Amino acid sequence: MLTFAVTGEERDWSKRVVQQFQLVAQIFANVLSRKRADEQLKKQLEEIEELRQRLEKENICLREELGQAKGFGKIIGSSEALNYVLFRVGQVAPTDATVLILGETGTGKGMVANAIHGLSSRKERPMITVNCAALPANLIESELFGREKGAFTGAHTRQSGRFEAADGGTILLDEIGELPLELQSKLLRVLQDGELERLGSAKTVKVDVRVIASTSRDLKEEVRAGNFREDLFYRLNVFPVTIPTLRERADDIPELVRFFADKYSRKIGKQIETIPKLAMKAMQEYSWPGNVRELEHVIERSVITTEGTVLLLADRLEPIQGAEAVDSSPRDLAAMEREHIARVLRDTGWKIEGQKGAAKILNLHPSTLRSRIKKLGIKRSLN
Ligand SMILES: Nc1ncnc2c1ncn2[C@@H]1O[C@H](COP(=O)(O)OP(=O)(O)OP(=O)(O)O)[C@@H](O)[C@H]1O
Ligand SMILES: [Mg+2]
Repeated sequence: MLTFAVTGEERDWSKRVVQQFQLVAQIFANVLSRKRADEQLKKQLEEIEELRQRLEKENICLREELGQAKGFGKIIGSSEALNYVLFRVGQVAPTDATVLILGETGTGKGMVANAIHGLSSRKERPMITVNCAALPANLIESELFGREKGAFTGAHTRQSGRFEAADGGTILLDEIGELPLELQSKLLRVLQDGELERLGSAKTVKVDVRVIASTSRDLKEEVRAGNFREDLFYRLNVFPVTIPTLRERADDIPELVRFFADKYSRKIGKQIETIPKLAMKAMQEYSWPGNVRELEHVIERSVITTEGTVLLLADRLEPIQGAEAVDSSPRDLAAMEREHIARVLRDTGWKIEGQKGAAKILNLHPSTLRSRIKKLGIKRSLN
């Protein structure tokens, strides 16, 4: 702003000049500041849009997580094997180290990841889960890293990815073993430099994300077979946490059975007071290929069908045949396909069609899935 020193005699005359000068100066200043304000506004609008997108993304992911997280809560069990897992969790949680959670399906990898995030300094920020197996391969990249408008046909808007949504928090890369090779190198770069580019953009975005990866595959074997990058494996394998199968910690079964019986009794409004010794023994001797998830479903079904206060097992716990056998290292492609389809069917309770149906998850047409089930000879083993 312009200021003038004004003497007493010149007062009347200079007042007019001063006013004119001030007017001119004001006009200049106005033009300048409007330009600056315009630029600032544009920048702020961009930032708001960015934040809005991030928020939207976080909300979507949060909702998804809440949807998945039915039964999320305390980790039950006090076997030595599980205690060791919890000890490892306690050790690594407060650090920012990358964690690799290994374990068969249904052993509680998701729960352990939640616990690590919940015990970390990032707990006030979200943990974003990406299921590398459930996303179609052509969408994983834009889901993870985001995309610019027009990056590909159908990309009508700019969208930030899940890594950006997890900024300041944690990302859980679930079923990391399913990540396509070409994306593995991009992921490696994010892990190494904390930098990424959105699809269709040359601009580098910096993110601060703690990575937890989980898989039910033998990653070392995948590396040997050429399906998984060795350098990425070493990057992820900083602090492995292996969750033992349920059959390796049968000691946990009674506690889990009581926990789930209580949970579903309360939920369904029944009063189960006794779990027969024989039923408990059968459960401790069964091999639980679906681990804790399978046990939980068996108990839920049993609570539903029990009349009275003594739990009656709804399933005959016999060794499962064919595709659902304990063998977790199928040798040929058909066996792998059979195992995968059988697993999805088991998880969906053999629901084939619809939003939560197996066909949708497997990205297959329901009739294609049906014919594959027939061709591969997959049978429903539990009622
Ligand atoms: N120790 C436990 N205490 C209580 N509930 C458990 C425990 N372990 C697993 N569960 C329950 O079992 C189910 C499966 O757990 P979770 O989803 O964490 O397994 P997962 O290893 O991630 O399985 P997948 O490989 O299929 O993704 C969940 O409903 C979870 O609540
Ligand atoms: Mg999981």
